[in-house]
Amino acid sequence: MRNFTFCNPVRIVFGKGTIAELGKLIPKSAKVLVTYGGGTIKKIGVYDQVKAALAGVDWLEFGGIEPNPEYETLMRGVELARQSGRNFLLAVGGGSVLDGTKFMSIAIPFQGKTAWDLMEGKVPIEAALPIGCVLTLAATGSEMNRFSVISRHETGQKTAISHDKLLPAFSILDPETTYSLPPRQVSNGIVDTWMHVVEQYLTFPLDTPLQDRQAEAVLQTLLEEAPKVLADPREYNVRANLMWCATMAFNGLLSCGGQGDYSTHRIGHELTALYGIDHGQSLAVLFPAVLRHQKADKLTKLVQYGRRVFGLQGADEQVANQAIEKTEQFFHSLGMKTRLKDYNIPAADYQKIAEKLAPRGMLGERQNIGAREIVEILRLAEG
Ligand code: NZQ
Ligand code: ZN
Repeated sequence: MRNFTFCNPVRIVFGKGTIAELGKLIPKSAKVLVTYGGGTIKKIGVYDQVKAALAGVDWLEFGGIEPNPEYETLMRGVELARQSGRNFLLAVGGGSVLDGTKFMSIAIPFQGKTAWDLMEGKVPIEAALPIGCVLTLAATGSEMNRFSVISRHETGQKTAISHDKLLPAFSILDPETTYSLPPRQVSNGIVDTWMHVVEQYLTFPLDTPLQDRQAEAVLQTLLEEAPKVLADPREYNVRANLMWCATMAFNGLLSCGGQGDYSTHRIGHELTALYGIDHGQSLAVLFPAVLRHQKADKLTKLVQYGRRVFGLQGADEQVANQAIEKTEQFFHSLGMKTRLKDYNIPAADYQKIAEKLAPRGMLGERQNIGAREIVEILRLAEG
């Protein structure tokens, strides 16, 4: 096992009716900016619950944060917050609203000219406003992690950052808020959760039996709960289990002492930036191809994954192949597509995608995925 530091001070308030606790979690003296997306929260009653819980608090709102939150939009929120002297941000929505709000929290106190520089590491992150979160979509794990992923249409970028100052002070997770999710977002969320786990787990063995079993527990829970949520979207415990899986998948616990491989996510972000496909959709297309390409290097863990997660038996090579097929079948069972041609992504663009990523370093747990390998993976995902 490798050395690691684990510190996750995010307060999670989980369960039915927990939005009412907002009043206790936000200081009465705070000047709050409530941020949200395209308006779903107003249709599903979450906005009204937040409003009731914030009685007596000085708050304003900023809506319109889009899926794959856009820098330009967020900078409008930054202006509003600066002009109105806000000192606390409350994100109400899915991962995009929360990630966008995380970015706003560091951009508001930033005194330099271009806040995008914070995303590129050109200037240090020195200050941030505190953030709270009311989550309405189980997927990203952003509610309990240090990450924020922001898009910039102007330059075709979709960029992730990680920083301690991006940890929310608290996140309220009421599974009932997720009843209204359309099946596409439910499936995207399950795939995203799955991918966060496997990208920390399915690399090379480092003698981390506890972390391996923690990862396998999340995967097996997803296998069990996924068909139930598709069959009955209003089953509370199923929603609760999926929400908790998503949070546990990507809060730093599973990566303790291990070595990750985030190649599927990194290539996936480029597909979203270039063609606008959902984050979860990009992952479902790429992951089977990444596994096929990296099968030899990942063999030991791939066989363990096949045997323990899917209960496969037989010779290693056979188990590894079946494990990849089972993964793809699971994605199909969620209604996800697993080929680039399903999204009309032209083969002529593969080189361009690879060249966008290559200057940012090699991918994979062995740093063995460069431009050439990315093109090979895209070909395997073609159709
Ligand atoms: O905009 P609104 O009206 O809120 O509607 C949203 C949006 O259209 C809707 N939605 C949210 N909650 C709902 C709901 N619809 C009905 N009922 C509800 N309860 O769902 C749509 C998608 O929302 P979005 O927030 O974009 O989805 P998600 O949570 O999957 O977030 C995706 C973003 O997070 C990034 C992705 O790259 C993408 O930009 N990620 C962030 C990570 C992190 N911070 O750790 C890690 C991930 O790997 C990922 O990269
Ligand atoms: Zn993800």
